[in-house]
Amino acid sequence: MEHKVELMEPMERAEPEIVLGEVTLRRFRGEADLPEFFRVIEESLEHLRPWMPWVAEHSLAKTTEFLAKRQTLWESGRDFTYAILLDGAIVGACGLFRREDTPEGGREIGYWLHPGATGRGIATRTARALTEQAFRLPGVAFVEIIHDPANHASRAIPVRLGFTEHLRRPAEAIAPAETGEEQVWRLQRA
Ligand SMILES: CC(C)(COP(=O)(O)OP(=O)(O)OC[C@H]1O[C@@H](n2cnc3c(N)ncnc32)[C@H](O)[C@@H]1OP(=O)(O)O)[C@@H](O)C(=O)NCCC(=O)NCCS
Repeated sequence: MEHKVELMEPMERAEPEIVLGEVTLRRFRGEADLPEFFRVIEESLEHLRPWMPWVAEHSLAKTTEFLAKRQTLWESGRDFTYAILLDGAIVGACGLFRREDTPEGGREIGYWLHPGATGRGIATRTARALTEQAFRLPGVAFVEIIHDPANHASRAIPVRLGFTEHLRRPAEAIAPAETGEEQVWRLQRA
């Protein structure tokens, strides 16, 4: 049905801005994004808390530090983090990145939305666009989405995009709803 991943021209870095109709993914702009981004996080805390370990340590200082690190990480080519905008307003964040233990040839995608922006396919469109970006980077053979098996809203996204379940493994349960297991989905380069 929907969600075919397009293959496009190769590139060295992810694009700084990706326009998807009324949704735009754009690179964070450091301190300039702080007031709006901090407010969006504050409004989303109870929605994010079950699944996002960093919420327990959320503070203005942490959000400031998060934004300050984005540029260096982007330039390193290891971590492309974007604000998700709906009609110009920040409604979440997403990223295309490698962890220390991401297997060679892989990239991971992560996402979260303000509760008022859920239910419209924004995260699905976002993850599809980041998957396309990943396959334009050199040496990327597959993309992973990793979530707690109990996080059904997150699970629905790789399913919609045609990822296949790769494995389940033990994972430290840190956030309140985490079960002690994580599910890894993969999409191989076509
Ligand atoms: C995970 C999360 C981003 C998913 O948000 P979401 O709104 O369910 O996902 P989407 O934006 O893709 O929207 C899907 C919903 O929109 C609907 N939808 C409408 N138009 C759509 C479209 N064009 N394409 C896909 N879905 C569409 C779907 O039917 C679905 O609705 P449903 O939940 O009633 O079945 C959100 O639940 C969240 O922020 N959770 C907390 C943080 C988190 O867990 N992050 C992931 C950690 S692994």
